[in-house]
Amino acid sequence: MLETKKKVGLFGFGTVGQGFYQLIDEKSPFEIVKICVKDKNKPRPLPLDKFTYSIDEILNDDSITIVVELISDAKVAFDIVECSLKKGKSVISANKSMISCKLSTLIALQSTYNARLFYEASVCGSIPIIQLLDAYYSNDTIHELSTICNGTSNYILTKIASGKSFSQALTEAQSHGFAELDPSSDIQGLDSKYKLVILIAYSFGLIVDPGNIFCYGIEKITKDDSDFAIENGHCIKLIAYAAKTITNEINAYVIPKLIPQTHLFNLVNDEYNAVEITAKYINQQFLVGKGAGAYPTSIAVLSDLNLVEKNRFPCYNLSASNSIFSNNTSIKIYLRCSSQSTLNSLKNYKIINQFQKNNLIFFILEISLSDLITSKIENDENAFIMVF
Ligand code: HSE
Repeated sequence: MLETKKKVGLFGFGTVGQGFYQLIDEKSPFEIVKICVKDKNKPRPLPLDKFTYSIDEILNDDSITIVVELISDAKVAFDIVECSLKKGKSVISANKSMISCKLSTLIALQSTYNARLFYEASVCGSIPIIQLLDAYYSNDTIHELSTICNGTSNYILTKIASGKSFSQALTEAQSHGFAELDPSSDIQGLDSKYKLVILIAYSFGLIVDPGNIFCYGIEKITKDDSDFAIENGHCIKLIAYAAKTITNEINAYVIPKLIPQTHLFNLVNDEYNAVEITAKYINQQFLVGKGAGAYPTSIAVLSDLNLVEKNRFPCYNLSASNSIFSNNTSIKIYLRCSSQSTLNSLKNYKIINQFQKNNLIFFILEISLSDLITSKIENDENAFIMVF
């Protein structure tokens, strides 16, 4: 007797959609029966009867029990996921902005309709961090999580360190399919922030509004910053960071960071991502893997598909959390700016070091994150900060 394959409806046929399609081979217990795309005029590498332009053609097909959503529009993605869950379909999504902004609603929908949503591919590409946080690290108490979770900005920072220009490196990252449709989400740190919200939920059991997390990207980096890093034996990485204080407050931010040569982050280059976890019993662990691109992301989608098949799903132990979010923490920063007035826009800082070069002033400061957030450094177009 022929084995019946589980029918999958796919939304989106971009870099990850096509990679995922290629990874589902004849031996797979799944079959992608329909692919919903937006653009009727785009040439497609498959017979046209495989495609539909109607979202409802997949959503209203009861024989399709699994929906894989790989589109970039967060609003449309949410509508697809919401409708699929209401119909009891299992859903896999890689849309970090949609998931992080709608996490509470998505959790409620799953419980009301007894349907499951999986999103391993939304964070850190090929590193199975959600499964690990759920099944492994949940046995421990996580104190701190630090991650390079945006492949595009890591690729750009790696190439800048080897002498390439920002725009050249960004164009390359786009041509490799690492960047979002609108790459400003990558270089402004928003993509990292959305991923951090998901990681915080699994690490600390707290759902944080992405708008509460301070986020400073790499778009204003110049050769002066890169030279400073190299001269001081450091490299620059865009780090998403979260930690739990002894008073159960969760502090978090996304800011470029000067990384010493001895730190393992220094070895994480190009589109690779990494997660460093500090916890009570394991002490410290470091995970590394490709974080962007067709196959590294598709393999995460495929692993979610296997969880659907095994009827296993990552749990959210959110009720266990007694934490609150707070920006009440002190950080040491590098500030490059063009005038003393930029420094004067900050409150309650302590200068550790300062020097001048090329008509710019450089400071190493200690400041509270909440004071940094209310500062007006963005009014100085020559200003740039990094955690030091
Ligand atoms: N634009 C994202 C990145 C894709 O560069 O990391 C993977 O989430």
